Amino acid sequence: MKDAFGAPQSLLVLGGTSEIGLATARRLIARRTRTVWLAGRPSPALTGAADSLRALGAAVHTVPFDALDTDSHEERLGKIFTEGGPAGDVDMVLLAFGVPGDQARDESDPVAAVRVAQTNYTGAVSAGLVCAGALQAQGHGSLVVLSSVAGERARRADFIYGSSKAGLDAFAQGLGDALHGTGVHVMVVRPGSVRSKTTAGLAEGPLATTPEAVASAIELGLRRRSETVWVPGALRVVMAAVRHAPRPLFRRLPV
Ligand SMILES: NC(=O)c1ccc[n+]([C@@H]2O[C@H](COP(=O)([O-])OP(=O)(O)OC[C@H]3O[C@@H](n4cnc5c(N)ncnc54)[C@H](OP(=O)(O)O)[C@@H]3O)[C@@H](O)[C@H]2O)c1
Repeated sequence: MKDAFGAPQSLLVLGGTSEIGLATARRLIARRTRTVWLAGRPSPALTGAADSLRALGAAVHTVPFDALDTDSHEERLGKIFTEGGPAGDVDMVLLAFGVPGDQARDESDPVAAVRVAQTNYTGAVSAGLVCAGALQAQGHGSLVVLSSVAGERARRADFIYGSSKAGLDAFAQGLGDALHGTGVHVMVVRPGSVRSKTTAGLAEGPLATTPEAVASAIELGLRRRSETVWVPGALRVVMAAVRHAPRPLFRRLPV
């Protein structure tokens, strides 16, 4: 059960090696989280991630999960909820998996482009619905979805990724409305550019942030029961302007 400040006792991370997912898990373990499930593609990185959280005192389980294998989601993820943790429930699900793709390559490789779309959008629709149904059956819990500022308005530089995040974002907003009043809270998180292994070496904008800053914003959003969180918060205003910029101007913006 979450406490009065929205801090979960148990956490399921979909995308168990995600830097943002792990920064969030570390932050929540430092507060109150005692049980963590890391769902992801089996790898030494997943095992290492579980060990790193165990070292902080949490009981950590790894669960095989592939976003692209949607036929397996109901059974794989459903089982976590039915088997439960020591307290029986999963208080928070963090949907943290995703791939940026390689825009230049993917434009000439439709199969690779579809893989980006299927991972980030259809994989998330499937996993999101399975987890939302299970949270609803519990009668409480938060589903936190890592969208992206890239989904707010697709840019020439990364419109394959951006369009997948736009779909995910719209899906998560609609799901949040569908679950309003059920006790289940859906929170959409829109980080800007996050300094991480994925973005190492890439040019970063003035509003670049860190996995730890995203984790901190998620914790605050849980406490406030926010529906939308921008990281950094200034992006809310910046993107309100960018969203309405005329196309010829938008094409020249360095965002
Ligand atoms: N980093 C940024 O600048 C940024 C900005 C805005 C939004 N976001 C979003 O925030 C989320 C987390 O980002 P991050 O920076 O923490 O990324 P990350 O460290 O690269 O982690 C991505 C995660 O996605 C998992 N994944 C990829 N394909 C998968 C699949 N088919 N099945 C299951 N898991 C799969 C990876 O697992 P493997 O270990 O198996 O590869 C990894 O756990 C993503 O959705 C990303 O789009 C990131």
